[in-house]
Amino acid sequence: MEQILLKHTHTGQCLSFDEYRSVGGFDALATALREMTPVEVQQQVIDSGLRGRGGAGFPTGKKWSFVPRDLPGPRYLICNSDEMEPGTYKDRVLLERNPHILVEGMALACYALGVHHAFIFVRHGYEQAAINLRAAIAAAHRSGFLGDNILGSDFSLELDVHQSAGRYICGEETALINALEGKRANPRVKPPFPAIKGLWEQPTVVNNVETLANIPAIITGGPLWWKGTAATPEAAGTKLFCVSGHVANTECFELPLGITLGEIIDGPCGGMRPGSSFKACIPGGASTPYMTGAHRDVPMDFDPVAKAGSRLGTGGIIVFDHTTCMVAATLNLTRFYVRESCGWCTPCREGLPFVAHTLERIETGRGTDRDIEILREHVKMLNYAFCALAPGAMGPVEGLLRLFGDELEAHVSGKKCPFGK
Ligand SMILES: Cc1cc2nc3c(=O)[nH]c(=O)nc-3n(C[C@H](O)[C@H](O)[C@H](O)COP(=O)(O)O)c2cc1C
Repeated sequence: MEQILLKHTHTGQCLSFDEYRSVGGFDALATALREMTPVEVQQQVIDSGLRGRGGAGFPTGKKWSFVPRDLPGPRYLICNSDEMEPGTYKDRVLLERNPHILVEGMALACYALGVHHAFIFVRHGYEQAAINLRAAIAAAHRSGFLGDNILGSDFSLELDVHQSAGRYICGEETALINALEGKRANPRVKPPFPAIKGLWEQPTVVNNVETLANIPAIITGGPLWWKGTAATPEAAGTKLFCVSGHVANTECFELPLGITLGEIIDGPCGGMRPGSSFKACIPGGASTPYMTGAHRDVPMDFDPVAKAGSRLGTGGIIVFDHTTCMVAATLNLTRFYVRESCGWCTPCREGLPFVAHTLERIETGRGTDRDIEILREHVKMLNYAFCALAPGAMGPVEGLLRLFGDELEAHVSGKKCPFGK
Protein backbone atom coordinates (compact mmCIF):
# COMPACT_ATOMS: atom_id res chain seq x y z
CA MET A 1 0.00 0.00 0.00
CA GLU A 2 1.37 3.37 -1.07
CA GLN A 3 1.92 5.92 1.67
CA ILE A 4 2.12 9.62 0.92
CA LEU A 5 1.61 11.56 4.13
CA LEU A 6 3.05 9.30 6.82
CA LYS A 7 5.86 7.90 4.63
CA HIS A 8 9.25 8.37 6.35
CA THR A 9 7.61 9.03 9.74
CA HIS A 10 7.51 5.56 11.28
CA THR A 11 9.94 6.31 14.07
CA GLY A 12 7.15 8.49 15.50
CA GLN A 13 9.70 11.32 15.91
CA CYS A 14 9.29 14.63 14.12
CA LEU A 15 11.16 14.59 10.80
CA SER A 16 13.92 17.23 10.71
CA PHE A 17 14.04 19.72 7.85
CA ASP A 18 17.21 18.04 6.49
CA GLU A 19 15.59 14.60 6.64
CA TYR A 20 12.59 15.94 4.72
CA ARG A 21 14.90 17.46 2.10
CA SER A 22 16.84 14.20 1.78
CA VAL A 23 13.68 12.30 0.74
CA GLY A 24 12.74 14.84 -1.93
CA GLY A 25 11.03 17.41 0.29
CA PHE A 26 10.50 20.81 -1.40
CA ASP A 27 11.37 19.34 -4.84
CA ALA A 28 7.71 19.78 -5.85
CA LEU A 29 7.84 23.48 -4.94
CA ALA A 30 11.12 23.94 -6.82
CA THR A 31 9.68 22.18 -9.90
CA ALA A 32 6.48 24.19 -9.82
CA LEU A 33 8.30 27.53 -9.52
CA ARG A 34 10.73 26.58 -12.27
CA GLU A 35 8.45 24.86 -14.77
CA MET A 36 4.77 25.52 -14.06
CA THR A 37 2.41 28.47 -14.08
CA PRO A 38 0.00 28.93 -11.13
CA VAL A 39 -2.89 27.88 -13.37
CA GLU A 40 -1.06 24.65 -14.27
CA VAL A 41 -0.56 23.82 -10.57
CA GLN A 42 -4.27 24.40 -9.97
CA GLN A 43 -5.14 22.23 -12.98
CA GLN A 44 -3.07 19.33 -11.58
CA VAL A 45 -5.04 19.55 -8.34
CA ILE A 46 -8.32 19.56 -10.29
CA ASP A 47 -7.17 16.55 -12.37
CA SER A 48 -6.16 14.60 -9.26
CA GLY A 49 -9.74 14.58 -7.99
CA LEU A 50 -8.55 15.58 -4.48
CA ARG A 51 -11.53 16.17 -2.18
CA GLY A 52 -11.18 18.20 1.02
CA ARG A 53 -10.21 16.13 4.06
CA GLY A 54 -11.75 18.55 6.61
CA GLY A 55 -15.13 16.79 6.64
CA ALA A 56 -17.30 17.85 3.72
CA GLY A 57 -15.21 16.36 0.89
CA PHE A 58 -15.57 19.39 -1.38
CA PRO A 59 -13.32 19.13 -4.49
CA THR A 60 -10.21 21.18 -3.69
CA GLY A 61 -9.35 22.37 -7.20
CA LYS A 62 -12.94 23.48 -7.72
CA LYS A 63 -12.87 25.46 -4.46
CA TRP A 64 -9.67 27.19 -5.60
CA SER A 65 -11.27 28.05 -8.93
CA PHE A 66 -13.90 30.18 -7.15
CA VAL A 67 -11.20 32.68 -6.10
CA PRO A 68 -11.30 35.65 -8.48
CA ARG A 69 -7.87 36.21 -10.02
CA ASP A 70 -8.51 39.76 -11.22
CA LEU A 71 -9.64 41.56 -8.02
CA PRO A 72 -7.26 44.15 -6.55
CA GLY A 73 -5.89 43.60 -3.06
CA PRO A 74 -4.53 40.53 -1.29
CA ARG A 75 -5.92 37.00 -1.22
CA TYR A 76 -5.40 34.61 1.69
CA LEU A 77 -5.04 30.91 2.39
CA ILE A 78 -5.91 29.55 5.83
CA CYS A 79 -4.98 26.05 6.89
CA ASN A 80 -7.64 24.70 9.23
CA SER A 81 -5.93 22.73 11.98
CA ASP A 82 -8.59 23.31 14.62
CA GLU A 83 -9.43 19.59 14.86
CA MET A 84 -11.76 19.53 17.86
CA GLU A 85 -14.16 16.91 16.48
CA PRO A 86 -14.24 14.03 19.00
CA GLY A 87 -12.53 10.95 17.60
CA THR A 88 -10.35 12.95 15.18
CA TYR A 89 -6.61 13.28 15.69
CA LYS A 90 -5.14 12.79 12.20
CA ASP A 91 -3.94 16.40 11.74
CA ARG A 92 -2.12 16.29 15.08
CA VAL A 93 -0.32 13.08 14.11
CA LEU A 94 0.76 14.59 10.80
CA LEU A 95 1.92 17.87 12.36
CA GLU A 96 3.78 16.10 15.14
CA ARG A 97 5.62 13.89 12.63
CA ASN A 98 6.02 15.93 9.44
CA PRO A 99 5.12 19.64 9.59
CA HIS A 100 7.32 20.31 6.50
CA ILE A 101 4.90 18.55 4.17
CA LEU A 102 2.22 21.05 5.20
CA VAL A 103 4.56 24.02 4.71
CA GLU A 104 5.41 22.78 1.21
CA GLY A 105 1.75 22.02 0.39
CA MET A 106 0.73 25.50 1.53
CA ALA A 107 3.50 27.13 -0.52
CA LEU A 108 2.27 25.28 -3.62
CA ALA A 109 -1.35 26.21 -2.91
CA CYS A 110 -0.38 29.86 -2.37
CA TYR A 111 1.57 29.87 -5.63
CA ALA A 112 -1.48 28.48 -7.46
CA LEU A 113 -3.82 30.99 -5.83
CA GLY A 114 -1.61 34.08 -5.94
CA VAL A 115 -1.48 34.32 -2.16
CA HIS A 116 1.45 36.02 -0.40
CA HIS A 117 0.37 35.70 3.23
CA ALA A 118 -1.15 32.54 4.70
CA PHE A 119 -2.16 31.37 8.17
CA ILE A 120 -2.24 28.08 10.03
CA PHE A 121 -5.03 28.03 12.62
CA VAL A 122 -3.93 25.47 15.21
CA ARG A 123 -6.16 23.94 17.86
CA HIS A 124 -5.77 25.09 21.45
CA GLY A 125 -3.78 22.37 23.21
CA TYR A 126 -1.83 21.26 20.13
CA GLU A 127 1.32 22.74 21.65
CA GLN A 128 3.79 20.33 20.06
CA ALA A 129 2.20 20.78 16.63
CA ALA A 130 2.52 24.57 16.95
CA ILE A 131 6.16 24.30 18.09
CA ASN A 132 6.95 21.97 15.16
CA LEU A 133 5.24 24.25 12.68
CA ARG A 134 7.08 27.36 13.86
CA ALA A 135 10.40 25.48 13.61
CA ALA A 136 9.51 24.13 10.15
CA ILE A 137 8.58 27.63 8.93
CA ALA A 138 11.86 29.05 10.27
CA ALA A 139 13.88 26.26 8.59
CA ALA A 140 12.07 26.79 5.26
CA HIS A 141 12.81 30.52 5.52
CA ARG A 142 16.53 29.89 6.16
CA SER A 143 16.72 27.67 3.06
CA GLY A 144 14.90 30.09 0.75
CA PHE A 145 11.61 28.14 0.49
CA LEU A 146 9.65 30.96 2.20
CA GLY A 147 10.10 34.73 2.30
CA ASP A 148 10.86 37.09 -0.57
CA ASN A 149 11.55 35.83 -4.10
CA ILE A 150 11.46 32.13 -3.25
CA LEU A 151 14.28 30.23 -5.03
CA GLY A 152 14.96 33.30 -7.18
CA SER A 153 11.39 33.45 -8.55
CA ASP A 154 9.07 36.43 -8.29
CA PHE A 155 6.86 34.50 -5.83
CA SER A 156 7.03 35.61 -2.18
CA LEU A 157 5.22 34.10 0.80
CA GLU A 158 4.94 34.49 4.57
CA LEU A 159 3.29 31.86 6.80
CA ASP A 160 2.00 32.59 10.29
CA VAL A 161 0.82 30.22 13.00
CA HIS A 162 -2.23 31.28 15.05
CA GLN A 163 -3.17 29.26 18.13
CA SER A 164 -6.89 29.05 18.82
CA ALA A 165 -8.38 30.16 22.11
CA GLY A 166 -10.16 26.80 22.05
CA ARG A 167 -13.75 26.31 20.86
CA TYR A 168 -15.12 23.67 18.48
CA ILE A 169 -16.96 26.33 16.47
CA CYS A 170 -13.59 27.87 15.52
CA GLY A 171 -13.20 24.97 13.05
CA GLU A 172 -16.20 26.21 11.02
CA GLU A 173 -14.49 28.22 8.30
CA THR A 174 -16.31 31.54 8.73
CA ALA A 175 -16.15 31.42 12.55
CA LEU A 176 -12.45 30.66 12.13
CA ILE A 177 -12.06 33.78 9.99
CA ASN A 178 -13.83 35.87 12.64
CA ALA A 179 -11.53 34.39 15.31
CA LEU A 180 -8.46 35.19 13.22
CA GLU A 181 -9.68 38.77 12.87
CA GLY A 182 -9.88 38.98 16.67
CA LYS A 183 -13.69 38.88 16.78
CA ARG A 184 -16.03 36.54 18.62
CA ALA A 185 -16.02 33.22 16.76
CA ASN A 186 -19.56 33.13 15.41
CA PRO A 187 -20.20 31.77 11.94
CA ARG A 188 -20.92 34.29 9.18
CA VAL A 189 -23.79 34.33 6.71
CA LYS A 190 -22.96 32.47 3.47
CA PRO A 191 -23.02 33.71 0.71
CA PRO A 192 -20.74 35.53 0.29
CA PHE A 193 -18.47 32.50 0.60
CA PRO A 194 -14.91 33.02 1.87
CA ALA A 195 -13.54 32.47 -1.66
CA ILE A 196 -15.16 35.81 -2.55
CA LYS A 197 -15.17 37.66 0.81
CA GLY A 198 -13.20 36.06 3.62
CA LEU A 199 -10.41 37.26 5.85
CA TRP A 200 -10.53 41.07 6.11
CA GLU A 201 -13.19 40.98 3.36
CA GLN A 202 -10.67 39.58 0.86
CA PRO A 203 -10.90 36.33 -1.17
CA THR A 204 -9.83 33.48 1.11
CA VAL A 205 -9.45 29.73 0.76
CA VAL A 206 -9.80 27.58 3.88
CA ASN A 207 -8.39 24.06 3.57
CA ASN A 208 -7.72 21.27 6.01
CA VAL A 209 -4.16 20.17 6.98
CA GLU A 210 -4.48 16.75 5.28
CA THR A 211 -5.87 18.32 2.10
CA LEU A 212 -2.92 20.71 1.74
CA ALA A 213 -0.33 18.10 2.73
CA ASN A 214 -1.31 16.07 -0.35
CA ILE A 215 -0.38 18.80 -2.85
CA PRO A 216 3.40 18.09 -3.05
CA ALA A 217 2.78 14.44 -4.03
CA ILE A 218 0.23 15.48 -6.68
CA ILE A 219 2.86 17.75 -8.27
CA THR A 220 5.76 15.30 -7.91
CA GLY A 221 3.99 12.07 -8.90
CA GLY A 222 1.40 13.62 -11.21
CA PRO A 223 -2.37 13.67 -10.70
CA LEU A 224 -3.00 10.27 -12.27
CA TRP A 225 -0.46 8.46 -10.12
CA TRP A 226 -1.77 10.24 -7.01
CA LYS A 227 -5.40 9.39 -7.82
CA GLY A 228 -4.41 5.75 -8.38
CA THR A 229 -3.17 5.29 -4.81
CA ALA A 230 -6.83 4.82 -3.82
CA ALA A 231 -8.46 1.39 -3.44
CA THR A 232 -11.15 1.90 -6.09
CA PRO A 233 -11.21 3.69 -9.47
CA GLU A 234 -13.86 6.08 -8.15
CA ALA A 235 -11.78 7.17 -5.14
CA ALA A 236 -8.72 9.46 -5.24
CA GLY A 237 -5.60 9.25 -3.07
CA THR A 238 -4.99 7.91 0.39
CA LYS A 239 -6.77 8.86 3.62
CA LEU A 240 -5.69 9.20 7.21
CA PHE A 241 -8.05 7.07 9.29
CA CYS A 242 -7.57 7.69 13.01
CA VAL A 243 -9.17 4.93 15.01
CA SER A 244 -10.26 4.79 18.65
CA GLY A 245 -12.53 2.58 20.74
CA HIS A 246 -12.78 -1.17 21.22
CA VAL A 247 -10.37 -2.43 18.53
CA ALA A 248 -7.00 -4.04 19.27
CA ASN A 249 -4.88 -1.25 17.70
CA THR A 250 -5.99 2.34 18.05
CA GLU A 251 -3.77 4.38 15.78
CA CYS A 252 -3.74 6.78 12.87
CA PHE A 253 -3.35 4.73 9.68
CA GLU A 254 -2.76 6.02 6.17
CA LEU A 255 -4.80 3.74 3.89
CA PRO A 256 -6.09 3.84 0.32
CA LEU A 257 -9.33 5.80 0.11
CA GLY A 258 -12.10 3.33 -0.72
CA ILE A 259 -10.79 0.48 1.45
CA THR A 260 -13.79 -1.17 3.11
CA LEU A 261 -14.76 -0.69 6.73
CA GLY A 262 -14.26 -4.42 7.40
CA GLU A 263 -10.77 -4.32 5.88
CA ILE A 264 -9.79 -1.48 8.22
CA ILE A 265 -11.14 -3.23 11.32
CA ASP A 266 -9.71 -6.67 10.51
CA GLY A 267 -6.48 -5.39 8.96
CA PRO A 268 -4.49 -2.56 10.58
CA CYS A 269 -6.79 -2.39 13.62
CA GLY A 270 -6.05 -6.07 14.35
CA GLY A 271 -9.73 -6.87 14.89
CA MET A 272 -11.69 -6.25 18.06
CA ARG A 273 -10.17 -6.45 21.54
CA PRO A 274 -10.23 -9.97 23.06
CA GLY A 275 -13.76 -10.83 24.15
CA SER A 276 -15.29 -7.99 22.15
CA SER A 277 -17.47 -8.16 19.08
CA PHE A 278 -18.19 -5.31 16.68
CA LYS A 279 -21.49 -3.54 17.25
CA ALA A 280 -21.18 -0.19 15.50
CA CYS A 281 -18.85 2.64 14.69
CA ILE A 282 -18.83 6.29 13.96
CA PRO A 283 -16.98 6.55 10.65
CA GLY A 284 -15.84 10.14 10.38
CA GLY A 285 -15.76 12.06 13.65
CA ALA A 286 -18.55 12.46 16.19
CA SER A 287 -20.92 14.31 13.87
CA THR A 288 -21.43 11.36 11.51
CA PRO A 289 -24.24 8.76 11.81
CA TYR A 290 -23.38 5.24 12.97
CA MET A 291 -22.45 2.35 10.72
CA THR A 292 -23.03 -1.27 11.78
CA GLY A 293 -21.85 -4.77 10.88
CA ALA A 294 -24.15 -4.55 7.84
CA HIS A 295 -21.82 -1.87 6.47
CA ARG A 296 -18.55 -3.83 6.66
CA ASP A 297 -18.27 -4.00 2.86
CA VAL A 298 -18.90 -0.31 2.28
CA PRO A 299 -15.89 1.39 0.65
CA MET A 300 -14.68 4.16 2.94
CA ASP A 301 -14.96 6.93 0.38
CA PHE A 302 -17.20 10.02 0.36
CA ASP A 303 -20.01 8.86 -1.95
CA PRO A 304 -20.31 5.19 -0.86
CA VAL A 305 -20.44 6.15 2.84
CA ALA A 306 -23.09 8.81 2.05
CA LYS A 307 -25.06 6.17 0.14
CA ALA A 308 -24.89 3.96 3.24
CA GLY A 309 -26.57 6.75 5.25
CA SER A 310 -23.54 8.27 6.96
CA ARG A 311 -20.59 10.53 6.06
CA LEU A 312 -16.88 9.88 5.63
CA GLY A 313 -16.30 13.16 7.50
CA THR A 314 -12.80 13.39 8.92
CA GLY A 315 -12.05 9.66 8.88
CA GLY A 316 -12.04 9.60 12.69
CA ILE A 317 -13.45 6.12 13.37
CA ILE A 318 -14.79 5.36 16.86
CA VAL A 319 -15.56 1.65 17.32
CA PHE A 320 -18.16 0.36 19.80
CA ASP A 321 -18.40 -3.26 20.93
CA HIS A 322 -21.34 -5.40 21.98
CA THR A 323 -21.36 -4.02 25.55
CA THR A 324 -22.03 -0.44 24.40
CA CYS A 325 -25.39 1.13 25.14
CA MET A 326 -25.99 3.20 22.00
CA VAL A 327 -28.40 5.53 23.83
CA ALA A 328 -25.70 6.33 26.39
CA ALA A 329 -23.06 6.71 23.66
CA THR A 330 -25.30 9.12 21.77
CA LEU A 331 -26.05 11.10 24.92
CA ASN A 332 -22.33 11.38 25.61
CA LEU A 333 -21.65 12.76 22.12
CA THR A 334 -24.64 15.12 22.28
CA ARG A 335 -23.37 16.61 25.55
CA PHE A 336 -20.17 17.63 23.76
CA TYR A 337 -22.16 19.57 21.16
CA VAL A 338 -24.37 21.20 23.81
CA ARG A 339 -21.23 22.48 25.51
CA GLU A 340 -19.67 23.65 22.23
CA SER A 341 -22.69 25.39 20.67
CA CYS A 342 -21.57 28.98 20.16
CA GLY A 343 -25.04 30.23 21.10
CA TRP A 344 -25.39 32.38 18.00
CA CYS A 345 -28.65 30.83 16.71
CA THR A 346 -31.69 29.65 18.65
CA PRO A 347 -32.14 26.16 17.11
CA CYS A 348 -28.63 25.16 18.18
CA ARG A 349 -28.47 27.02 21.50
CA GLU A 350 -31.91 25.85 22.73
CA GLY A 351 -32.47 22.74 20.60
CA LEU A 352 -29.34 20.79 21.49
CA PRO A 353 -29.82 20.97 25.31
CA PHE A 354 -33.44 19.90 24.76
CA VAL A 355 -32.27 16.88 22.75
CA ALA A 356 -29.73 16.02 25.47
CA HIS A 357 -32.42 16.22 28.21
CA THR A 358 -34.68 13.98 26.12
CA LEU A 359 -31.89 11.42 25.68
CA GLU A 360 -31.13 11.65 29.41
CA ARG A 361 -34.77 10.87 30.22
CA ILE A 362 -34.71 7.83 27.93
CA GLU A 363 -31.33 6.64 29.19
CA THR A 364 -32.37 6.82 32.83
CA GLY A 365 -35.60 4.89 32.23
CA ARG A 366 -37.96 7.91 32.47
CA GLY A 367 -38.58 8.15 28.73
CA THR A 368 -41.75 7.54 26.73
CA ASP A 369 -42.63 6.87 23.09
CA ARG A 370 -43.28 10.60 22.79
CA ASP A 371 -39.60 11.26 23.63
CA ILE A 372 -38.55 9.10 20.69
CA GLU A 373 -40.89 11.17 18.52
CA ILE A 374 -39.32 14.37 19.90
CA LEU A 375 -35.89 13.13 18.85
CA ARG A 376 -37.23 12.39 15.36
CA GLU A 377 -38.70 15.89 15.07
CA HIS A 378 -35.45 17.51 16.21
CA VAL A 379 -33.36 15.64 13.63
CA LYS A 380 -35.47 17.52 11.06
CA MET A 381 -35.74 20.85 12.86
CA LEU A 382 -32.07 21.30 13.69
CA ASN A 383 -31.29 21.26 9.97
CA TYR A 384 -32.55 24.85 10.07
CA ALA A 385 -29.74 26.02 12.33
CA PHE A 386 -27.42 28.81 11.19
CA CYS A 387 -24.38 26.61 10.50
CA ALA A 388 -23.54 22.92 10.20
CA LEU A 389 -22.76 22.40 13.92
CA ALA A 390 -26.31 21.46 14.99
CA PRO A 391 -27.13 19.29 11.94
CA GLY A 392 -23.80 17.52 12.54
CA ALA A 393 -24.61 17.07 16.22
CA MET A 394 -27.83 15.32 15.18
CA GLY A 395 -25.90 12.81 13.03
CA PRO A 396 -25.52 10.22 15.81
CA VAL A 397 -29.11 10.84 16.99
CA GLU A 398 -30.38 10.20 13.46
CA GLY A 399 -28.27 7.02 13.33
CA LEU A 400 -29.61 5.92 16.72
CA LEU A 401 -33.21 6.30 15.54
CA ARG A 402 -32.61 4.56 12.20
CA LEU A 403 -30.33 1.70 13.31
CA PHE A 404 -30.99 1.16 17.01
CA GLY A 405 -34.73 1.76 17.28
CA ASP A 406 -35.02 -1.54 19.17
CA GLU A 407 -32.63 -0.27 21.84
CA LEU A 408 -34.58 2.96 22.22
CA GLU A 409 -37.83 0.98 22.47
CA ALA A 410 -36.30 -1.30 25.09
CA HIS A 411 -35.34 1.73 27.17
CA VAL A 412 -38.80 3.28 27.10
CA SER A 413 -40.74 0.05 27.59
CA GLY A 414 -38.48 -1.75 30.07
CA LYS A 415 -37.81 1.54 31.92
CA LYS A 416 -34.25 0.40 32.32
CA CYS A 417 -31.11 0.33 30.20
CA PRO A 418 -30.73 -3.23 28.82
CA PHE A 419 -26.97 -2.86 29.30
CA GLY A 420 -27.42 -2.18 33.01
CA LYS A 421 -25.28 0.94 32.95
C1 LIG B 1 -18.72 23.11 13.61
C2 LIG B 1 -17.70 22.83 12.55
C3 LIG B 1 -16.40 22.50 12.89
C4 LIG B 1 -15.44 22.25 11.92
N1 LIG B 1 -14.18 21.91 12.30
C5 LIG B 1 -13.23 21.71 11.35
C6 LIG B 1 -11.89 21.41 11.72
O1 LIG B 1 -11.54 21.32 12.90
N2 LIG B 1 -10.98 21.21 10.72
C7 LIG B 1 -11.33 21.31 9.38
O2 LIG B 1 -10.49 21.17 8.50
N3 LIG B 1 -12.60 21.58 9.03
C8 LIG B 1 -13.54 21.80 9.96
N4 LIG B 1 -14.81 22.13 9.58
C9 LIG B 1 -15.09 22.27 8.13
C10 LIG B 1 -14.63 23.68 7.67
O3 LIG B 1 -15.71 24.58 7.82
C11 LIG B 1 -14.20 23.67 6.21
O4 LIG B 1 -15.22 23.12 5.43
C12 LIG B 1 -12.91 22.91 5.97
O5 LIG B 1 -11.85 23.41 6.74
C13 LIG B 1 -12.54 22.99 4.49
O6 LIG B 1 -11.36 22.27 4.24
P1 LIG B 1 -11.27 21.17 3.08
O7 LIG B 1 -12.01 21.73 1.88
O8 LIG B 1 -9.82 21.02 2.85
O9 LIG B 1 -11.94 19.96 3.62
C14 LIG B 1 -15.80 22.34 10.56
C15 LIG B 1 -17.12 22.65 10.19
C16 LIG B 1 -18.07 22.87 11.18
C17 LIG B 1 -19.46 23.20 10.77
